[in-house]
Amino acid sequence: MDDKKLVDEILKLKKEKNASILAHNYQSEEIQLIADHLGDSLELARISSDLNNDVIVFCGVSFMAESAKVLSPEKVILHPVREARCPMADMINAKKVRELRKKYPKATFVAYINTNVETKMEIDVVCTSANAVDIVRKIPNDRIVFLPDKNLGRFVKDQVPEKDVVLYDGYCYVHDDLDKDQLLKLKEKYHDAITLTHPEANEEVSNLSDHLLGTGGMLKFVKNSKNKRFIIGTEEGMIQRLARENPNKEFFATQSRIICKDMKKITLNNVYNSLKNNRYEIKLSEEIIKKAEKPLEMMLKYSHD
Ligand code: 13P
Ligand code: SF4
Repeated sequence: MDDKKLVDEILKLKKEKNASILAHNYQSEEIQLIADHLGDSLELARISSDLNNDVIVFCGVSFMAESAKVLSPEKVILHPVREARCPMADMINAKKVRELRKKYPKATFVAYINTNVETKMEIDVVCTSANAVDIVRKIPNDRIVFLPDKNLGRFVKDQVPEKDVVLYDGYCYVHDDLDKDQLLKLKEKYHDAITLTHPEANEEVSNLSDHLLGTGGMLKFVKNSKNKRFIIGTEEGMIQRLARENPNKEFFATQSRIICKDMKKITLNNVYNSLKNNRYEIKLSEEIIKKAEKPLEMMLKYSHD
């Protein structure tokens, strides 16, 4: 089937099944264009729990689809490619959290949403890049263990110096690999550009950036800014969205091909197969849902207050 036919079939199946397609900002443009809701991890978690559809096709990595299932257990959550996983989420697990609990018994454990459901069952509060600083500030405890991203953790620690934030050594290979020399060259060439970088970036690139923002924050910043040029340090799907929605502004990636291979595993073809054959349904036991729901609900509560 060609792409146009695939899109028509997807739209038809979506109607028949009362389904909604949610896509993360790092999805390829063909997926972004068919999504009913496109957003960052916080927006997608919120939307998945508010929607009235019977079926959600989650175009993102597995922890996102799992979080949607935990927040909406009554819905059928489909994740088109099982192997689309965030490698950072696999850097921590439930056993490691339990060991850390013994070492820091009085701390509140905050975990990035980029964690698997078994890890979430063991922690106190979930956060995303959009609300990590705010949540750590609001928690009524001065000792925090922040898991698993050392770069986002360092950003939080810098922004909330009044708290003792213990870091872990997880990282995102896409953002941790960004190259400061290429960024320096671009900044010299486009000296009027504002540099926006994801807080998962390494320390050197973060220090050279004007603002550290999650993908939703970048979108808002660009829309509200009078500036015409931006250097963007994040995955290219986000840069495509920024360019599409802000045609009068210019965007330069800090380097070529900033790609999350897992996000890109989802294609029109497997979204079609997913809707047609209910592939692959996220199934979680009641016990898992009950335990993982608490820290996710805590995040939603903290980000409403
Ligand atoms: P956002 O929450 O900023 O969308 O980021 C998710 C992610 O996986 C970043 O690598
Ligand atoms: Fe995980 Fe990095 Fe991909 Fe985000 S960009 S899903 S953190 S590997």
